[in-house]
Amino acid sequence: MRQYGAVTDDPRQAQKQAAAERALEWVTSGTVVGLGTGSTAVWAIRGLGARLADGRLRDVVAIPTSDASAAEARAVGIPLVTFDEHTVIDLTIDGADEVDPGLDCIKGYGGALLREKVVAQATRRQVIVVDDSKPSARLGTRCHVPVEVLRFARATEQAFLESLGATVALRTGDAGPFVTDEGNWILDATFGPIADAPGLAARLADRAGVVEHGLFLGLVHDLLIATAGAVEHRIRP
Ligand code: A5P
Repeated sequence: MRQYGAVTDDPRQAQKQAAAERALEWVTSGTVVGLGTGSTAVWAIRGLGARLADGRLRDVVAIPTSDASAAEARAVGIPLVTFDEHTVIDLTIDGADEVDPGLDCIKGYGGALLREKVVAQATRRQVIVVDDSKPSARLGTRCHVPVEVLRFARATEQAFLESLGATVALRTGDAGPFVTDEGNWILDATFGPIADAPGLAARLADRAGVVEHGLFLGLVHDLLIATAGAVEHRIRP
């Protein structure tokens, strides 16, 4: 456990920033970094921008997991690249909605799960940063599973998810269905505690209308959990 001082007035934000700052200690000059999405990962983007601005890091380029994170990165001067230039990412810092003791996660409450998973699969070292509200004993205990679907397939994939026992809701935004960066819709599927996450992931991956789902299994190398006054580091067992 590593001690840290309070850095914002909001204790929850302070935890998120502390976890992100700890992850940034693993970023080295001359590398390719993946930028996650969400209220925790944004602290890593801001911290990386600060390190590039003051010279603690140099020659770092980044691949963002969402249009929102790309905008945050541009705002703090992080040079962005694409997979056309770098097919492998050295280290990615991202958040999660729920994480189990094996470091498997549910992600996608921010709607960026598709690009997040593409980036995670292209990453040598995937670091997840969370506050202490995110760990649970079993995935599905505190979160539903976001499932990104083709608009064309929404009704049939909803029926499929319901046949698996889920309660399903189409995610909405300010003006109708929430639209992802890739132009798809999201079905939020509540299963309750999931007994067989790999089995469920395989069922979802089999569906042509499911573009991607929020079960991130076997992708995380390091987990940083910020609690009140400390950051705990866990490595995938
Ligand atoms: C974005 O789609 C998500 O996967 C986020 O990484 C996740 O929702 C965590 O976000 P917060 O850090 O805001 O809780």
